[in-house]
Amino acid sequence: MSKIKLASISEVPKDGMIEKVVGERTFLLASVNGAVKVMDGLCSHRQGHLAKGTLKANIVRCPVHGSEFDIMTGKMVRGPKIPLIGKAVDIKTYAPIIEGDDVLIEI
Ligand code: FES
Repeated sequence: MSKIKLASISEVPKDGMIEKVVGERTFLLASVNGAVKVMDGLCSHRQGHLAKGTLKANIVRCPVHGSEFDIMTGKMVRGPKIPLIGKAVDIKTYAPIIEGDDVLIEI
């Protein structure tokens, strides 16, 4: 496992989300009740960029077909609006490591 820096805390807007790409991986960082949360940034349904969706409390809604994920656990709480085009599954979350103003994760 190695630590990688994703962003500075100050880059993550209060109650908002940003996307960060590191190498070939895409991550979502969100501010929930003043704490930074991290999960994979592409929807498990059809790879929608979750940071372009909406965040309501701890629920991230995909902008493409509306699947919803709990950013605290990565659990899919609602599938795509059009069920005939496949399913969404849970998304991997990461425990953020805060070092100064940096947000890091271990991968
Ligand atoms: S790509 Fe996210 S719900 Fe379809």
